Amino acid sequence: MCGIVGAIAKQNVVPVLLEGLLRLEYRGYDSAGLVVSDGKLLRLRTTGRVAELGKLSTDRHAKGLVGIAHTRWATHGEPSKRNAHPHFSGESSKVAVVHNGIIENHESMRLRLESEGFVFLSDTDTEVIAHLIAFHLQNKPDLLDAVCTSIAELQGAYAIAVMQESHPDRFIVARNGAPLLLGVGEEGNYAASDASALLQVTKQMIYLEEGDVAELSSDGYRIFNCTDGKIDKEVVRKVHQSALTNEAIDLGPYAHFMQKEIFEQPSAVANTLEMVFNAQSISPNLFGDAAESIFSQIDSILILACGTSYHAGSVARYWLETVAGLPCNVEIASEYRYRDPIANPNTLVVGISQSGETADTLAALKYAKSLGHRHSLSICNVAESALIRQTDLCFLTRAGPEIGVASTKAFTTQLASLLLLTITLAKMRSKLSHDRECEMIAALRHLPVALQLALQVEPQVKVWAKRFAAKRHALFLGRGVHYPIAMEGALKLKEISYIHAEAYAAGELKHGPLALVDSDMPIVAIAPNDVLLGKLKSNLQEVNARGGELYVFADADSQIQQSNNVHIIRLAEHAGVLSPILHTIPLQLLAYHVSLQKGTDVDKPRNLAKAVTVE
Ligand code: M6R
Repeated sequence: MCGIVGAIAKQNVVPVLLEGLLRLEYRGYDSAGLVVSDGKLLRLRTTGRVAELGKLSTDRHAKGLVGIAHTRWATHGEPSKRNAHPHFSGESSKVAVVHNGIIENHESMRLRLESEGFVFLSDTDTEVIAHLIAFHLQNKPDLLDAVCTSIAELQGAYAIAVMQESHPDRFIVARNGAPLLLGVGEEGNYAASDASALLQVTKQMIYLEEGDVAELSSDGYRIFNCTDGKIDKEVVRKVHQSALTNEAIDLGPYAHFMQKEIFEQPSAVANTLEMVFNAQSISPNLFGDAAESIFSQIDSILILACGTSYHAGSVARYWLETVAGLPCNVEIASEYRYRDPIANPNTLVVGISQSGETADTLAALKYAKSLGHRHSLSICNVAESALIRQTDLCFLTRAGPEIGVASTKAFTTQLASLLLLTITLAKMRSKLSHDRECEMIAALRHLPVALQLALQVEPQVKVWAKRFAAKRHALFLGRGVHYPIAMEGALKLKEISYIHAEAYAAGELKHGPLALVDSDMPIVAIAPNDVLLGKLKSNLQEVNARGGELYVFADADSQIQQSNNVHIIRLAEHAGVLSPILHTIPLQLLAYHVSLQKGTDVDKPRNLAKAVTVE
């Protein structure tokens, strides 16, 4: 989604703005722009990449001590130069605005501002904000006051940065429902959508809270609370030392972030599980101080998530039911938030999200609470995210920054965390003997090594990828706990290779999708040596008998034979409860290598964004 960078310093900020935008490229965008003040505002915008904006900046000798910059992921209005941010308003007192989020009342505001004589030059909701601030500046000449008054009239989610031509000594930012943080540097002060954009200048970060408005100058910053359109009081927010390193967000020897992140999985999972590696038993405190008390009150689980995180939740349902004996519902957050579900105050609501900023997941959790759910837990990869602040308990997946739009290491670390949750709850409910717990901890300890072995199938997967690259459709089949893994495999393939891929529970095949099967339809099957293997083999026979071409990921000990039209790649022997985690790896590799074959943009697939901060 959109990315914001703002900077005010004692030297030219253009290089900081451009480097910041480059660091935010992974979020997904279709146009980019910046404005700097060198006495007058200079605005540059392009529908090209950030590199193109850099070239424009050089050609136009852009420089200034203050500036704001933006990558736009189109919501209102096509991707075009005139819709790209920053947006301007005002003649005598020109203001420039960049915005992330959606202004829901933009239509009525537009009519109102047009009737006041403002002329709109774009189709965006953002331009409303620029004109509204310019309108209020007519009566309140101070930019901070005008921003406070304006945001009180906005409905929806936003993070904004605003500057004014006549006051190049500061810029203003505000957040409500979209991420924004400040960077406190020695040579200046900064704002950005996430910390990775600012590591180039500082590690001192302040995570703004909902409703915060901040004024930044080269010497300092002040944060305020606004009530009813007026500055209420100055507030103090904690300065965090970011643990992010430049290496964590650099490609290193890899060609793509997705490739790097696939191969980082053994260490990402090891980091996530570090605290249990030396333990003989798992303590509820891993999920927060109040976890023991909360876990002892719950009688069911409700998981809310989107995309890949939803698939992780769907795997966890099988674990929670089978190992912990707990009823579990998994809901797509964007659906749940508009249903009328019946709340059970003894349910533990679990929000799963890599970014912790996914608008639908945040809203679904809020909705669940409003319905009467009392207990919540987040499983998230970003320590300072909105999700973590919204729940009673939390567990941090320590995957490190995930830059590729296609989620990989976030997924396997989510699964590892959900297995820890399962073991904890099973133990507390007397469903797990100490011996079984020790066996499971031992299996988790072995997981990084097992993942390393699973990665070794890459050369065989590459051969398959060449055949897939020519296909337009693919089916993915799995049964039981591996059905969500088939869903994840299909999602990975479609999102980065643009091949239409669907996943089915293999038993569903003959209820419809079998009609699609012909010699041109590759069918990927996840075939671990588990209790459902016999059933799955019958489903594969049904495909084979109709001329379908099968690509089977089996375990070394799965009794399933290669034959004409049945191609097999074998992982190590069946990994028991950990099997879904290991079977994810070849599917990620398959999507990656098909994408390479097709020459699509692996890390920034078309139309997609990394953190989906709008509805
Ligand atoms: O940050 P989140 O985990 O909440 O994101 C949810 C989805 O947007 C995300 O998993 C998406 O489906 C990925 N691009 C899939 O690879």
